[in-house]
Amino acid sequence: MMSQTAHKKAETLSSWDLVFPNDANPYGSMFGGRLMALMDKVGALAGANYAGTVVTTASTEAMDFKHPIRVGDQIEARARVVAVGRTSMVIKVDVFSDSPLTGERHHCTTAHFNFVALDSAGRPAPVPPLRVETAQEKREYEIAQIIKQKALLRKQRIMETEAASGEPV
Ligand SMILES: CC(C)(COP(=O)(O)OP(=O)(O)OC[C@H]1O[C@@H](n2cnc3c(N)ncnc32)[C@H](O)[C@@H]1OP(=O)(O)O)[C@@H](O)C(=O)NCCC(=O)NCCS
Repeated sequence: MMSQTAHKKAETLSSWDLVFPNDANPYGSMFGGRLMALMDKVGALAGANYAGTVVTTASTEAMDFKHPIRVGDQIEARARVVAVGRTSMVIKVDVFSDSPLTGERHHCTTAHFNFVALDSAGRPAPVPPLRVETAQEKREYEIAQIIKQKALLRKQRIMETEAASGEPV
């Protein structure tokens, strides 16, 4: 078994943003796509910090938006590597909104992104093994394994369907 000292601890990366009218729909709620882009970006930064390389987004899980984000809200996106493979990382991104008008904080969404570390030639590159210690880290690791397996199964089934039909799905 590899020594725990060779394993790397993942840091949480936090980014803040202010929601402007051009981030929102005509009813004053933030576009889901805009939020996803922000989450992808903070996830990429967390992945690049952890891996020490350039990273690319391979896939994401489905995303549920639990609470609307309003124009004028301050949003915090927190990203952390929760599981790694040989070259891939599952990165959990949590988003919270703070209303300066009411002082209320809401958890808006959580999603997992699958990132792959790349070398200078753009090929998948090995990432350090992850140190998983606390009960929460262990739970997050288990969930991440399920998410990664689902992503690969979906990719494999689509490829098989395409191969069988001879047409892209
Ligand atoms: C992601 C990408 C690098 C994977 O390349 P690939 O040839 O499938 O590479 P491999 O088969 O060697 O897989 C590399 C790793 O990626 C993982 N992976 C590949 N496709 C994946 C997917 N859809 N979801 C999650 N993980 C995936 C593999 O499991 C493997 O992980 P591991 O090394 O930890 O076991 C490649 O498909 C790519 O460059 N895609 C475009 C990415 C991009 O442009 N993203 C931005 C959107 S515009």
